Amino acid sequence: MSIPTPPAGIADIGVTGMAVMGSNLARNLAHHGYKVAIHNRTAAKTEHVMAEHGSEGQFFPSESMEDFVQSLAKPRVAIIMVKAGAPTDSVINQLADLMEPGDIIVDCGNSRYTDTQRREKEISARGLHFVGAGVSGGEVGALEGPSIMPGGTPESYKRLGPMFETISAHVNGEPCCTYVGPDGAGHFVKMVHNGIEYADMQVIAEAYDLMRKSLGMSASQIGDVFARWNATELNSYLIEITAEVLHQQDATTGHALVDMIQDAAAQKGTGAWTVQESAAFGVPATGIAEATFARCLSGDTKERAAARQALPANTQMVAIPDMNAFIEDVRLALYGSKMVAYSQGFELIRKGSRENNWNVDLGAMARIWRAGCIIRAQFLGHITDAYTRNPDLPLLLADGYFAGEIARVIPAWRRIVAYAAQTGIPIPMFSSSLSYYDGVRAQYLPANLIQGQRDFFGAHTYHRTDREGTFHTLWAEPGRTEVLQ
Ligand code: ATR
Repeated sequence: MSIPTPPAGIADIGVTGMAVMGSNLARNLAHHGYKVAIHNRTAAKTEHVMAEHGSEGQFFPSESMEDFVQSLAKPRVAIIMVKAGAPTDSVINQLADLMEPGDIIVDCGNSRYTDTQRREKEISARGLHFVGAGVSGGEVGALEGPSIMPGGTPESYKRLGPMFETISAHVNGEPCCTYVGPDGAGHFVKMVHNGIEYADMQVIAEAYDLMRKSLGMSASQIGDVFARWNATELNSYLIEITAEVLHQQDATTGHALVDMIQDAAAQKGTGAWTVQESAAFGVPATGIAEATFARCLSGDTKERAAARQALPANTQMVAIPDMNAFIEDVRLALYGSKMVAYSQGFELIRKGSRENNWNVDLGAMARIWRAGCIIRAQFLGHITDAYTRNPDLPLLLADGYFAGEIARVIPAWRRIVAYAAQTGIPIPMFSSSLSYYDGVRAQYLPANLIQGQRDFFGAHTYHRTDREGTFHTLWAEPGRTEVLQ
């Protein structure tokens, strides 16, 4: 069966790539009254979408890319939702060959922001607009209202923005979509969002592990705790679904399903990208790094087996006199670690924005994450407030609200980290986030010694605490120091 050519210039917007995310985005647009051109490399998928969902709105399917492009009203807007990497490049080129100056190509996939920067350069040289847009919220979000983070030119946002804002999630009438900044800004922010998502999931996993290993609680009992926590400062989509995951029973064994799932976490790479970028930009995003490496460690089954055989625990029993007080301590340790991870993630966005001249509004990023996306939470409103109070806030944690919240959780957080260290429960994010906290607020760090070592072996020089200038010491000749500048 072949699809007849649709009328020219009929559609407000088009989507190519009719896998679940693409078709759901197209359906969302159609549900909001837009005329949507749809296309897929393999026409059967387009026909399937028409058969299943054609009655939900005004769709204009095409079999060929040529038909798809000519069916779009000018200036044309075509969204690409295909496999990231080479397939995306191939589709961009096919579209660019068929489009005219002023038309807009939008990549809504999870592209690396440096790819988006490269593509934007190539496409804008041809007179077209290229928008890399981060879309978060998974399949349901794409259909019912995602959080959308579009980059590209401000001109392209004039045409695209109203449609994206309409189909995005809303909080109190405010869309979870805003113009992020030029070229790769949208995909950069989406990448950090995903890194924070890794961190959010890891702190939850550490809290679960503490409760099951220290208190021997069942999955469903821990699920009850998470359900209660969802009515506290921790209220969020991820806490909510954690309760549901823990309550789920396995149909075949009758056990808690989570107890039947292998403890080896997978990843698609955005966490690792975030870690790479944080290292490249010199931002200590330790929470996201620990979360990413915790997944790597979990998947190292051979290494774990070897370590289990060879390495002693040497742990100590520590009594827990009050189970409820312990659980509350765990909650507060989770909250403290979460605040650290978010603070670090926002520093990474600030640094990325500064280095690339994107001028990203940090408060607005927190605002568009309040709904639609995986890390959606009330908590994000406090981040927006902090950056509204002071757009140049040097560190999110140093904002008055967050400083107060951290002060409240610190004693509990220290108790939990000490408990886990003594009893041998791995809590990489809880403990490293606490160390970060103590490091960032420390009057002195031992970096003076590191500078001394560097100068000793490599004449890397150092600065003094009492005088201006750059110094190098001739370490073999005590007392002899050269002033270099
Ligand atoms: P995944 O499920 O891993 O995200 P996929 O299902 O293989 O990836 O592909 C997702 C979408 O990208 C599909 O619409 C696919 O088109 P087909 O249905 O024809 O396979 C599209 N896609 C993948 N590679 C493509 C390419 N080189 N050119 C155009 N579209 C491509």
